[in-house]
Amino acid sequence: MKVLIVGGGAREHAVSKALKKNPAVKLYSVMKNRNPGIMRLCEEVSHHDELDTTRTAEFAAKMGVDFAFVGPEAPLAAGCADVLENAGIPCIGPKAVLARIESDKEFMRGLLDKYNIPCNLRHKTFDSVSEASSYLDSVGCDVAVKPVGLTGGKGVKVMGEQLSNVDDAKAYVREVIEGGIGGGKVIIEEKAVGEEFTLMAFVDGENIALMPAVQDHKRAFVGDTGHNTGGMGSYSDSNHLLPFLSESVVEEAGRVIKETVRALKKETGEKYKGILYGQFMLGRDLKVIEFNCRFGDPEAMNVLSILESDLAGVCQDIVRGRLGDVKFSGQATVCKYIVPEGYGVKSTAGQRLTIDEEKIKSLGAVLYYAAVNEEAGEIFTTSSRSVGVIGIADTISEAERICEEAVESVRGEHIYHRRDIGTSGLIEKKLDGLKGLR
Ligand code: GLY
Repeated sequence: MKVLIVGGGAREHAVSKALKKNPAVKLYSVMKNRNPGIMRLCEEVSHHDELDTTRTAEFAAKMGVDFAFVGPEAPLAAGCADVLENAGIPCIGPKAVLARIESDKEFMRGLLDKYNIPCNLRHKTFDSVSEASSYLDSVGCDVAVKPVGLTGGKGVKVMGEQLSNVDDAKAYVREVIEGGIGGGKVIIEEKAVGEEFTLMAFVDGENIALMPAVQDHKRAFVGDTGHNTGGMGSYSDSNHLLPFLSESVVEEAGRVIKETVRALKKETGEKYKGILYGQFMLGRDLKVIEFNCRFGDPEAMNVLSILESDLAGVCQDIVRGRLGDVKFSGQATVCKYIVPEGYGVKSTAGQRLTIDEEKIKSLGAVLYYAAVNEEAGEIFTTSSRSVGVIGIADTISEAERICEEAVESVRGEHIYHRRDIGTSGLIEKKLDGLKGLR
């Protein structure tokens, strides 16, 4: 079975590794960087811009792949699945019209409204600075300001966090609209308060199979402080819930995902085939923060590291529209990203990393390469996240201990990671924060 993986980050390394557990899989890759983890698993790699969907389809056809797995959102929003499917190559990852669930936040909120899907937030979209500013004067509650289009997960600003007051919110609205950020339109949403969690599902157009819940940490520094990043690390629990999540809340979130898949089909006439990522906020009520049209990054590393089902088989079931149960082991995971100093603001790229992969393996941890480049047998950082390290154990605290020990085997100048992710101190703080709300 020949499979193409598009994307060169740790998420795609985790997908590649899971696919390669099936000995029948021969892997091919499209990525712009030189990710050594993915390259080692592949028969052939085309290093080109992942947004060049025509070139990707030509490479896929030349290699004779049976299906493609597209990791990142940007090629999906640019129509990668459409181009591949037009060339007769099935794709794990939705067509562009369906990828709007992530690439167009106005579409996402409108879909939830139109199909009466619960857990939506009050929202309004603007492409005029003055109209948005008048709205901010009149809205009467704290808000989040988001560019409507894609920004690599770093465009959201929330009052009481990155925005101190209405004037800050107005200034950010101006920056987005006049700077053309994320398409130059803003969506202003009521601020949701509580604890965020990620619930992802495999989707075959009709059926869904939920994955374990995960909590990501977007802030750059210890104690959930600093600027937002693509995600600094994440954890999951052995019961596939989280310490602050009950089964009924996860069931409610699962129903929202299922109803969204149905609504997408009604709205577009197309079947969503791939991964649907729901980000939820649990506060007084459950709220949808966003949907993504792909695996979360880092969350993919948590769930794929404990996947028991054959991922290649799951993908074939998605293509054929007969998705059944997907099994995960009952273990906890803690993932920490090692990133260059200044990541998300002004990164120090081009640093050499030395990694003792054997030691990491011997600790029972797993390493996934992210946005690094291998040149003449050496690994160099880029401006984005460098490597993800996962500890896996029966409890979150043991997984965290293993992860920290394994992180010691990644050495280099001007890199850092968040030591607090998955620690009981941080988790207790989250539980305490929720006590006042529920
Ligand atoms: N972890 C956040 C994301 O993948 O968008």
